[in-house]
Amino acid sequence: MNILDLVGNTPLLELKKIAQDIPGVSLFAKAEFCNPSGSVKDRAARAMILAGLEQGALRPGKTIIDASSGNTGIAYSMLGAALGYPALIYLPANASAERKRIMKCYHAEIVETSPLESSDGAFLAVKEAVARDPDRYFFPNQYNNDVNWRAHYNSTGIEIWEQTGGTVTHFITGLGTSGTFMGTSRRLKEYNKAVHVYAVQPDSPFHGIEGTKHMGSTIKPGIYDETLPEGFVEVDTESAYAMARRLASEEGLLVGISAGANVVGALRLGRTLPKGSVVVTVLGDSGSRYLSDNFWDEGGTR
Ligand SMILES: Cc1ncc(COP(=O)(O)O)c(C=O)c1O
Repeated sequence: MNILDLVGNTPLLELKKIAQDIPGVSLFAKAEFCNPSGSVKDRAARAMILAGLEQGALRPGKTIIDASSGNTGIAYSMLGAALGYPALIYLPANASAERKRIMKCYHAEIVETSPLESSDGAFLAVKEAVARDPDRYFFPNQYNNDVNWRAHYNSTGIEIWEQTGGTVTHFITGLGTSGTFMGTSRRLKEYNKAVHVYAVQPDSPFHGIEGTKHMGSTIKPGIYDETLPEGFVEVDTESAYAMARRLASEEGLLVGISAGANVVGALRLGRTLPKGSVVVTVLGDSGSRYLSDNFWDEGGTR
């Protein structure tokens, strides 16, 4: 076994206390912080890197380069270290201090781009770097690579179906590249086309739900099909923070901000559903990745 074999097959947790707000509806969440570099992004990063190796696009002498809001960069950095490839990650300068530090621990190099341009700025800067020196890099291009969503089609979706014994009725998660949503939703709908799929969206272009995109105001990922979500649940950053605090204190789950947003979205959706519904969402990463933020203190702001 090696570190790549630890990706995926994460536990499905039942959030019983939080679900007391939605009597008769069950609420489950994939514990994606259990992946070896600590986030859901290990799945897509692993699949894209293995595809690159298989196709010969990633070979000795190449550097792995991509834009990331942080977690994919961490996943590439870990995989690069394990496989012997350097990683060069472009990310917005306001990504959390912990994320940058973790990448450096894996010996990745990072380039910080304007926080005002968020993940779009990092993506455009990477495209320029690759165009300047194409032979130097392996560029997985996570926003436009079908291997990204297929990683979830081939793992997350199957796991959720099996772990709920085929009883899942609703899947809801936020969108970064949209790979998690697209791949998982497609697989679940293939098992049972009556499964409903919803996306969580930050309520404004300027938000603190790290790792997720406000689709209306940013570059649309090539892998995103906006006709797949049956509905969107808008979540504000303060509600996501408050839920991250609740998950830690009521469920013993120290998870990140996008996980908080996802659970807020799942609860809001759950309130509209008939008894017996089974809602599944995603806990994308751990709260330990955001300890330098002060929202953890009750009523605190960032
Ligand atoms: C914590 C967290 N949750 C969710 C996502 C969104 O995942 P995807 O890119 O598959 O849409 C990300 C993306 O980086 C993330 O970091």
